[in-house]
Amino acid sequence: MSDKLAIDGGIPTRNAPFPAWPIYDEREERNLLEVLRSGQWGIGGSKVAQFEQRFAEFQGARFGVCVPNGTLALQMTLNALGIGPGDEVITTPYTFIATASATIQQGAVPVFVDIDLDTYDIDPARIEAAITPRTKAIVPVHLAGRPADMDAIMDIARRHNLRVLEDACQAWGAEWRGRKVGAIGDLGTFSFQSSKNISAGEGGIVVTNDEALGEMCWSLHNVGRVRQGAWYQHEIIGGNLRMSEWQAAVLLAQLERLPEHTARRDANARYLSETLSEVAGIAPLPFDERITQHAHHLFICRYEPAAFGGRSRDEFVAALRAEGIETASVGYTLPLNQNNAIRRSAAALTRLGGREWPLADDGLPALAACPNAEWATQHTVWLFQNTLLGDSADMDSIVAAVGKIQRGWGERTKDQ
Ligand SMILES: Cc1ncc(COP(=O)(O)O)c(C=O)c1O
Repeated sequence: MSDKLAIDGGIPTRNAPFPAWPIYDEREERNLLEVLRSGQWGIGGSKVAQFEQRFAEFQGARFGVCVPNGTLALQMTLNALGIGPGDEVITTPYTFIATASATIQQGAVPVFVDIDLDTYDIDPARIEAAITPRTKAIVPVHLAGRPADMDAIMDIARRHNLRVLEDACQAWGAEWRGRKVGAIGDLGTFSFQSSKNISAGEGGIVVTNDEALGEMCWSLHNVGRVRQGAWYQHEIIGGNLRMSEWQAAVLLAQLERLPEHTARRDANARYLSETLSEVAGIAPLPFDERITQHAHHLFICRYEPAAFGGRSRDEFVAALRAEGIETASVGYTLPLNQNNAIRRSAAALTRLGGREWPLADDGLPALAACPNAEWATQHTVWLFQNTLLGDSADMDSIVAAVGKIQRGWGERTKDQ
């Protein structure tokens, strides 16, 4: 193999793609045909109810309510918890925007607490300092499929009388000390969007062990109806957030495949972690024995430019992709505390009675600084979940590509 880097015109480390995503077989086809032929494509069908029951059971929860996507699941659950104007919700800045924008859409203010760089999840040690009399809930995200520290978070919530909504949109089947995530807190949300480990293109579900919250979510997602009520009886203001039978048909089949896929991702993630850990400057996030099941939506590494000739993370990911590791990504490029849409909303919410923020030079609120999340957006490399569905030779090719880039660029200390 030529040592000239592929990005400079050399031969790539690998030519074959990683396993394609999504994966489906005759089970999805059979379920979809059943829906087609039943003529019950929405209300009146049985697939959504079946999936709600199976997925809730899979997550160790008593109740499940399917919705069109994870974003709406978050907004609806915040609504169910009574979060509204004047309230504050503590969450992480290193996540997809929906985690925070759902709070804003409820008229409440997201308050960002920095992450722990060993987990990339909210750092529980920093939460209490962010609690004010307006705080109503904590929304931890089980980022990448790695459960946040639910012992610490539940303890803080109990002591301060706060609700906990788990954003488990990347964490199907993940487990914290033997308990599946989603229903450890008051409510949990999951996404089945295209990139997710179980997908129907779009889709979402809410789970809970709290019957009253389960009923409230059912009503909110079904235009305020009540289960035993008349068709045109609407007791609260809700939306039409019902999932279609097509989505549930696909998800029922996808769920059957998930345990085997998770086991394969787990074995590959452990192998890749071990082998990559020997390369200077690239550090997979450490495993934690309290995480009894990681869902491995993303494989996350911290990147140190000094070990790669001072080249930036963006240059590294471009070189890695050129070597044939096309599932590599820079991930989130801006922490949400620096997102201008969120900062503008924070200003608008102040005018509506939300908290006053100091202003930055650009005239927008300077939301609480989150240096770890800011560092992470510049020094992180993601590999998407389908990378981990390959075999050990696929994992070796990643290590080979990283090593080749390191040799090509040479090691250099930070001050050179
Ligand atoms: C952490 C997190 N929260 C929320 C969402 C929103 O889910 P959806 O794309 O299904 O609306 C996603 C997924 O994109 C996510 O990764």
